[in-house]
Amino acid sequence: MAGPARNLDELLAEAEAALAAAASVPELTETRARFLGRKGSLSGVLRGLGELPPEERARVGQEANRAKERIEALARERREALEQEGRGRALAEHRLDVTLPGAAPPRGHLHPVTRIEREMCAFFRSLGYSIEDGPEVDTDHNNFGALNFPDDHPARDTQDTFFVEGGHVLRTHTSNVQIRAMTGRTPPFRFIAPGRVYRHDLDPTHYPMFHQIEAFCVDEDVTFADLKGTLYAFARHLFGPDTKLRFRAHFFPFTEPSAEMDFWWKDRWLEWGGCGMIHPQVLRNCGIDPERHQGFAFGMGIDRTAMDRWAIPNIHLLFEGDARVVEQVG
Ligand code: DAH
Repeated sequence: MAGPARNLDELLAEAEAALAAAASVPELTETRARFLGRKGSLSGVLRGLGELPPEERARVGQEANRAKERIEALARERREALEQEGRGRALAEHRLDVTLPGAAPPRGHLHPVTRIEREMCAFFRSLGYSIEDGPEVDTDHNNFGALNFPDDHPARDTQDTFFVEGGHVLRTHTSNVQIRAMTGRTPPFRFIAPGRVYRHDLDPTHYPMFHQIEAFCVDEDVTFADLKGTLYAFARHLFGPDTKLRFRAHFFPFTEPSAEMDFWWKDRWLEWGGCGMIHPQVLRNCGIDPERHQGFAFGMGIDRTAMDRWAIPNIHLLFEGDARVVEQVG
């Protein structure tokens, strides 16, 4: 047996072992080149063919070609195996546990005043009231004069009212909307008017800007009993079916008779707002004949209601932008 044939068997065995030992694709490429490259061992054998006796050349040539194919096939297999292993490793390293709970995005909440206001509006919409808007800067006439405030009434005093140039004021209550909504309209009608109001007042229970909701209803044969019935239904919608109300005789220039009302909450009476039958002069000021039409009206603080509902001790907490207040209520 001539040398090259034995050499080829050895070469093949050596290549097989080396390829199997290649631990990475670059290492494999190098190993493959060591056997098959231009300067590789097998090329050496092929180059040496010319020195063989002619009768052996064909056989050795064939064997060398087969060895070459075999090494190529082994290198290909090993490469695939290495690539497969690499993919497996990458997958294991970047394993994604799809059963883990996701990171919860922060959740927003409505402001307590917004929540109560929406509840209030929903209740009155269910009774057929429409929502009427009014400006926060209004005339002295709409805020005071047409509501029957005498010129020397203390509420017009700078203590309470922010005066704006041109005879305007920052409205001190939502009752200005009564004048705007009733003037030029023919009863029957029912309105509510939620919104911001302003008074020159600052302590733990007062803030210069706060929110009120006004409600008024004008029709034929409207009585104080209608007013009480509406207020009871409203209070029970907001605070529960057993809520009790109390009416205390009071004075407002724009209602006659007038009352302040309180509701019983847990263990005490809380002041809630003012109410009454719309004063005939106010109806007349709006072009409505009080002989034919009567109405009731009431107004209360939305912030106060929210504070009572969630036991918020200080009105300033509502307007100072502390997200914890909103979160606790939400
Ligand atoms: N406007 C009054 C205030 O701000 C509240 C009020 C009282 C509104 C009696 C009314 C009412 O509609 O009838 O103090």
